[in-house]
Amino acid sequence: MSIDQTQFLSRIARETPGSQISAVADYGRARSSVIPLWVGEADLPTPRFICDAATRSLAAGETFYTGTRGIPELRQALATYHARLYGGAFSSERFFVTGSGMQSIQVALTLIAGEGDEVIVPTPAWPNFAAAVGVRGARPHVVPLRFGNAGWVLDFDDLAAAINPNTRAIYFNSPCNPTGWTASRDELQHVLDLARRYGLWIVADEVYTRFVYDGTARSPSFHDVAEPGDRILYTNTFSKNWAMTGWRVGWIEADPSLGPSIENLLQYSTSGVAVFMQRGAVAALEQGEGFVEHLIARVKRNRDFVADAFAKSPRIRFSSPTGAFYMYFAIDGEPDTSRLPFRLMDEIGIGLAPGGAFGHAGDGFLRLCFARSADSVDEAVGRLTRWVAETA
Ligand SMILES: Cc1ncc(COP(=O)(O)O)c(C=O)c1O
Repeated sequence: MSIDQTQFLSRIARETPGSQISAVADYGRARSSVIPLWVGEADLPTPRFICDAATRSLAAGETFYTGTRGIPELRQALATYHARLYGGAFSSERFFVTGSGMQSIQVALTLIAGEGDEVIVPTPAWPNFAAAVGVRGARPHVVPLRFGNAGWVLDFDDLAAAINPNTRAIYFNSPCNPTGWTASRDELQHVLDLARRYGLWIVADEVYTRFVYDGTARSPSFHDVAEPGDRILYTNTFSKNWAMTGWRVGWIEADPSLGPSIENLLQYSTSGVAVFMQRGAVAALEQGEGFVEHLIARVKRNRDFVADAFAKSPRIRFSSPTGAFYMYFAIDGEPDTSRLPFRLMDEIGIGLAPGGAFGHAGDGFLRLCFARSADSVDEAVGRLTRWVAETA
């Protein structure tokens, strides 16, 4: 017998909202025929050479406690990867290995925001950002982007108007999950100027930087505009580029002066990441470029397919994503997209995420992840566009 004990929990534990995406996923998982496009991951297993590096490590007996900041080889591999991607030199002292992108976000926010503070979150945004702010006792201050003929647009006057004496940081995710909106270098410069003027931190989430569709190797980054001394915490993950969502390994990049504070927060949460997983992560960085390119080509093909199919459907409103691997769209005549994902699972066997889960700016939208195989994306989109035509 279970007796409800929730009334005895802390305020934060009681008030933290459940994930609407998980609710859809839980419903869908019980239905094996549903094509699952609700979650942000590819359907490819982690490449063999990454798994082999991890198993070699286990076989060699690397099963002990390790340095909290991460093994030196991985911190160095991260520095080399960043130098390759962004140009210039990166010290390995800037990198801290975490137990997932999500833990990077938690640690970054704990470093800079607490009770009474506000963190600005442009929305639609992955709901975990705002929830993680709340879990720190701080308040997310959402700034909705506007959707119109030009796609999603961030109004910088809205952003500036959200800043008040309690504001400590701007959480900035580009390319954006869920909209695919990707900030230009000028827009990043603008955000940085605001942060400098008001003494704010920027938490830069550039997890999808490799997933851009204009032929470039990466999206514009705060690395392109930042100067030493700018208060920027980069939160990142191995999950997306190397199909390692289940591994739960990520990293923070920050000024080395923050090392002791980051180390403390890691020490008092996970106390470091298993060495064998870090060996896998080294292999991903050092040998994974071919895989990343394969994955990007795959999602680019799917993005074009979904965009073409949606463009033929007069009831579907969307803007073709310039980054990340999601299509965020609305269906005219279907304003209640909180219930619609359940209906679509029951009626046509496809699993989408409710747009309102990403903030009220996304009410009426749905999110479709197109990182899966072409066959499953094509089948799901075929079923959806037929359903949209038939229910008109
Ligand atoms: C924008 C963004 N940041 C961070 C994460 C967290 O990644 P991880 O799976 O490593 O926790 C996600 C995951 O979906 C994401 O979409």
